[in-house]
Amino acid sequence: MQDFAPRPGETLEYGPVTLRRWRWHDEEAAYTAVIESMDHLRPWMPWAPAYTRENAIGFLAACEQDWNSGVAYNYAITVGGQIAGSCGLMARIAPGGLEIGYWVHQAYVRRGLATASAAALTDAAFRLPGIDHVEIVHDELNEASAAVPRKLGFTELGSRSLDIKPEAGTGTGIVWRLTRP
Ligand SMILES: CC(C)(COP(=O)(O)OP(=O)(O)OC[C@H]1O[C@@H](n2cnc3c(N)ncnc32)[C@H](O)[C@@H]1OP(=O)(O)O)[C@@H](O)C(=O)NCCC(=O)NCCS
Repeated sequence: MQDFAPRPGETLEYGPVTLRRWRWHDEEAAYTAVIESMDHLRPWMPWAPAYTRENAIGFLAACEQDWNSGVAYNYAITVGGQIAGSCGLMARIAPGGLEIGYWVHQAYVRRGLATASAAALTDAAFRLPGIDHVEIVHDELNEASAAVPRKLGFTELGSRSLDIKPEAGTGTGIVWRLTRP
């Protein structure tokens, strides 16, 4: 039977970035991007320090499954065809909302890629039926991450405990929200 469930596009273009859905064949590229970015991922991404090829395979398997079930829509951030990070929309907040997550390859930071990726995901989320808000959550000490929702006009809602405390953080997350205009 054909599946007509509403989903965001498999490719999203926004300013300098092309977001494309992660696929099985990205295993080597996904693994390499994490390993090359370890120094700056380690402080903020609890899954990063012990990252292995098996983790990359598991991540891509989860991406496939989550895309099909609507639990999450994960994309490679690409620039000129090269992997420059990862981002996604996750259905793990209250109904009507999707959470945005992102990390950028160390060689590509400070070029506006996280901001452009979050903007692309916001637009895609607001085109989905029943979605009226998106949220970004980051550790209270993660200033680089905080700048993204601030630049995009999100409103700071408050704080909540993160599931896992990042190495460089306190474990208190700041929640930002943007509501569909
Ligand atoms: C947070 C992160 C995704 C930002 O990616 P990025 O592509 O460099 O972000 P942008 O270029 O869109 O920057 C947006 C703004 O963030 C701020 N910013 C970015 N890096 C910063 C840093 N290291 N320190 C302070 N502010 C920073 C700046 O205000 C920047 O705007 P500007 O360059 O015009 O001044 C990236 O640093 C990263 O991957 N960090 C590790 C993983 C992580 O923390 N992910 C988020 C978890 S919630």
